Amino acid sequence: LNIAVVAGGEQSEVVVSIKSAKGIVSFLDKSKFNPFITVIEKNNWHVLLESESTLPIDKNQFTFRLNGQEIHFDCAYITIHGIPGEDGRLQGYFEMIDMPYTSCNVLTSALTYNKYICNQLLKGFGISVAPSVRIKRNELYQGEKIVSEVGLPCFVKPNLGGSSFGVTKVKEVNKLEPAIKKAFEEAEEVLIESFLEGTEVTNGIFKTNKREKVLPVTEVVSKNEFFDFDAKYKGQVEEITPARISPELTQQIQQTTSKIYNILGCRGIARIDYIITNGNKINLLEVNTTPGMTPTSFIPQQIPHAGLTVSEVLSEIIEDSIA
Ligand code: DAL
Ligand code: MG
Repeated sequence: LNIAVVAGGEQSEVVVSIKSAKGIVSFLDKSKFNPFITVIEKNNWHVLLESESTLPIDKNQFTFRLNGQEIHFDCAYITIHGIPGEDGRLQGYFEMIDMPYTSCNVLTSALTYNKYICNQLLKGFGISVAPSVRIKRNELYQGEKIVSEVGLPCFVKPNLGGSSFGVTKVKEVNKLEPAIKKAFEEAEEVLIESFLEGTEVTNGIFKTNKREKVLPVTEVVSKNEFFDFDAKYKGQVEEITPARISPELTQQIQQTTSKIYNILGCRGIARIDYIITNGNKINLLEVNTTPGMTPTSFIPQQIPHAGLTVSEVLSEIIEDSIA
């Protein structure tokens, strides 16, 4: 089967996406799958060959020509972090050309990629989230009023983004405006959230026709002020799987992960991030529907702790999406 491992994107996480795609290619069972990294940039869609040379993709059919032969894909594994692969656009394209893909559908992707809307919806289902304020580009805001709602310190982040690009921990009201400006460089909306003091954990899950599997919980101990880009990708972090928390709390987190996954109607692999406050209160940070798959990302770390291999999980998910 020819698999398009779809990387690229239009936001800051392009580099992470290419690494995730290479990770997925390395994990895929080559006796079953013939993977091609397909890079989707705004006006440039191409297949990236191992030699690093590229071949153009026909956008109408999602095919390309290799040695004079037209190659069709059997399935797309989307691993773009950000627009257009995490927010539903590409999912819509694949729906329209009848191309099976492995992740959440259009609605779920669009919903989860908007942190504010997603968290407000889940709050209505009894999930605890940090108090927050969202501002749209060109909307007038008053720093003092925002701080009176979310307190200090607070986090300022692009409402649509990932890998901590554009995120600032703000400790003084006069630092709010530059932080908001910085976040607007990444996205059209900015989210300002209360800082929750506690332990950060993350929990992966996947579901196929065969089963739903919630993975072990990982504890994240950042050596930096928060779990920023350098902590995520330059090793300035300790990631402990399974998390050093009680079996009861672990189970409660896993139940919350399953509940959120099913409320949102997710598909394939997802990863949900939380902050545990007061020792046992589970607060949702965000839902990631195309979680990082670089060799140092959480999902490839959690799967072996569940007694599975990344290869078999990917096989199961791809086969499920084609079935
Ligand atoms: N946005 C990054 C890739 C993640 O969630 O893992
Ligand atoms: Mg994220």
